[in-house]
Amino acid sequence: MDIIVADNAGFCFGVERALEMVTGEQEGARPATSEQARPASPRRGRRARPTRSIGSSRASSKRAAPGHAHAPIYTLGPLIHNPQVVERLREKGIGQVSAVGEVPAEGTLVIPSHGISPDVLAQARARGLRLLDATCPFVARAQDNVRTLVEQGYQVIILGDRGHPEVAGLVGAAGGQAIVVEDEAELATVQLRPRVGLVVQTTQAPARMRAVAGVLAERSRELRAYNTICAATSQRQESAVRLAQQVDVMIVVGGRNSANTNRLRQVCAQAGVETHHVETAAELDPKWFTAKRSVGVTAGASTPDWIINEVVEALRRTEPECHSERSEECR
Ligand code: F3S
Repeated sequence: MDIIVADNAGFCFGVERALEMVTGEQEGARPATSEQARPASPRRGRRARPTRSIGSSRASSKRAAPGHAHAPIYTLGPLIHNPQVVERLREKGIGQVSAVGEVPAEGTLVIPSHGISPDVLAQARARGLRLLDATCPFVARAQDNVRTLVEQGYQVIILGDRGHPEVAGLVGAAGGQAIVVEDEAELATVQLRPRVGLVVQTTQAPARMRAVAGVLAERSRELRAYNTICAATSQRQESAVRLAQQVDVMIVVGGRNSANTNRLRQVCAQAGVETHHVETAAELDPKWFTAKRSVGVTAGASTPDWIINEVVEALRRTEPECHSERSEECR
């Protein structure tokens, strides 16, 4: 059985950046201030690599020295949507809270890569907490687009997964005055105003965005649509679909709470290939590979290389032959 790893799989720029910020803060490498929130020019499409001991298959031998002796670090919700990475952060002493009020007064609050709502940010500022804003610049830009639409009087439509924190942040950026739809069919019951603006969750599929924009264009007098799907998402989906068209079975690796991983699973299945989603190698079922000649592997933007490598290694133990552009996975 051939094992092929997608060209673009695993950590994206925003996830890598968030992990670097948090581990840097813990090691005292950088001060935490809310002014770090918005880098001027995000880099697009950069191939991501694992970050220090969080993304590495080896535990760090260097004991992390707290940068701020009285500032324990907490992320608001998971820093990224990968339970295994979050567990490693917890082992390094980086906690997680579900509300601003749970952070002790001396604590540092980390805003996760998928961003938060402005009113939650205001709560943190009102409490005078130290802030480390790891919001991905592409998410921040989508929030800025929402604010622009509101300021200019457009009705704001957000294409995204209801309940996802990034979408909650986008709705918050609209002051709560936004309508969330998960696909074009949901627009049927939406009363549209003449001037409509569209912003898209960064991890959506381009085909779904085009479908929603098409309906909005037909039903509104004026449409302003921002394509806020990030390059990392597009690249991973395109690579996954290309690979899915070549293999007998696809394995998608990543957190079950990861929107972009779930999207990869969807686009692979839509390509017509048998597709399985696993968080770790332990979930692989040998029955999936019976009579299969080739297996493709892809991974969400919050999946570290060490988990991808473990999956590939487990597949290799099923069959020895491996072809990958990421040759280290085949050794
Ligand atoms: Fe940012 Fe896109 Fe990654 S929005 S966190 S670069 S999936």
